[in-house]
Amino acid sequence: MSDARTQGLPSGDGDGTRAVRAGLPEPVKYEPTLPGPVFAAHYHLPGEPTGSYTYGRDENPTWSHLERAIGELEAPGEDGVETLVFASGMAATSSVLFSQLRAGDAVVLPSDGYQALPLVRAQLEAYGIEVRTAPTGGDAQLGVLDGAKLLWIETPSNPGLDVCDIRRLVSEAHARGALVAVDNTLATPLGQRPLELGADFSVASGTKQLTGHGDVLLGYVTGRGAEAMAAVRRWRKIVGAIPGPMEAWLAHRSLATLHLRVERQNASALAVAEALRDWPEELGVRYPGLPGDPSHTIASQQMRRYGCVVSFTLPTRARAERFLDALRLVDDATSFGGVRSTAERRGRWGGDAVPEGFIRMSVGAEDPEDLVADVLSALDASAK
Ligand SMILES: Cc1ncc(COP(=O)(O)O)c(C=O)c1O
Repeated sequence: MSDARTQGLPSGDGDGTRAVRAGLPEPVKYEPTLPGPVFAAHYHLPGEPTGSYTYGRDENPTWSHLERAIGELEAPGEDGVETLVFASGMAATSSVLFSQLRAGDAVVLPSDGYQALPLVRAQLEAYGIEVRTAPTGGDAQLGVLDGAKLLWIETPSNPGLDVCDIRRLVSEAHARGALVAVDNTLATPLGQRPLELGADFSVASGTKQLTGHGDVLLGYVTGRGAEAMAAVRRWRKIVGAIPGPMEAWLAHRSLATLHLRVERQNASALAVAEALRDWPEELGVRYPGLPGDPSHTIASQQMRRYGCVVSFTLPTRARAERFLDALRLVDDATSFGGVRSTAERRGRWGGDAVPEGFIRMSVGAEDPEDLVADVLSALDASAK
C-alpha cells in the first residue's frame, strides 16, 4: 500500500509548482511518482478495526493523496484544515448543508446560484429547515443573516457571474454566530481561496475546471473546524457519496496541469469577453476580469484569477440558437471548465432567471485567436 504522507509543500512556492507537486507522497525507489488507483472494497484488517484503511466506503489511499493535494491548493500552509472528496459537486454541497443544519435552523442560500439549489432548498424545507435566499450581487445576503446558522455563498455565481464580498460577509456572519461556506467551483483554488478570506468551508464541483477534461464527476469540501468536518465525514459515510478510485486518480493527474489550463483558459476568456464587449451590438457581456464589469472591483480584491466562463445575451432565442449552430470550435453542451470550449443557451433548462437569448460560454484551451474569430464569425452569421 502506498504511503499517503505528502512532501508538505512550502506555501511560498508558486501556483504552478504547487499544482504540479500537490499531494505527491515521499519518493520511494521503484514506485511511481503518483501511485496508481487503489481498487479496494476492503483492506486486510486482522484484530481490532482501527487505523485509516478499514472499509472502502470510509477511506481509500487514492482519495487521501487527492485530498492532500486539494488541501495544499485551497489552504496552503494552514494547519487544522481537512479536505474530503465526494462523488460529485452536489454530493459535496449536500454533505455540508445536511450535516450542519437541523430542523429549526435557518440557512441563507443564493437566489441566483447553481440551478440544483432550488431542489436542495425543497429538501431542506421538508426537513424543517428555514431557507432564506438573496441575490449574490451587492452583498444582499446581509439583509437576511440574522439568526441564520449557515450562510452559503456562490461567487462568482453561475451563470450570472455576480460576485459578493467574501471577507465582509464572513465577518458579518461570524459576528452573528453563522458558519460560512463558499462554492468555489467557478474560480478553482488557483483563482480564489475562501478559507484565507475567512470562510469555514470551501466547497466545489471538481467536475469543472479543477479536472478540466469533461470526463470526471467529482466534488470536495475543504474546511477548518474538527467538529464540523467530522460531521461532513460522517455524512459521506452514511450516504456513501464517495468517488471511485479511478475518478479520484484521474482528478489528481489533472491537477498537474491545472495551472497551465487556468492560465490559458482564463486569458482566452478575457480575450473573448473583450471581443464581445467591442462588438457593435450591446450584448451585456459579463466577465469578472473585465474592467468595467459590475463584479470587477470586488473580484479584483478577493480573486487571484477570474475564471474561464463568460456570459452574454443575444436579443432573441432564435438568434442565440443560430449563433450556437454557427460556432465551429465551441460545442453546444452544458457544464464548464473543460479544455474544449462549450457554450449553451442557459434558458433551455428553465431553472435560471435569465433571458431567452442568454449564453453561457466556457472558454477552453484552443488558440485564443481561433476562438475569438469563431465567436465573431458566428455572431455575424447569426445576425443574418
Ligand atoms: C457552481 C456549481 N456548484 C455545484 C455544481 C454541482 O456539481 P456536480 O455537477 O459535480 O455535482 C455545479 C454544476 O454545474 C456548479 O456549477
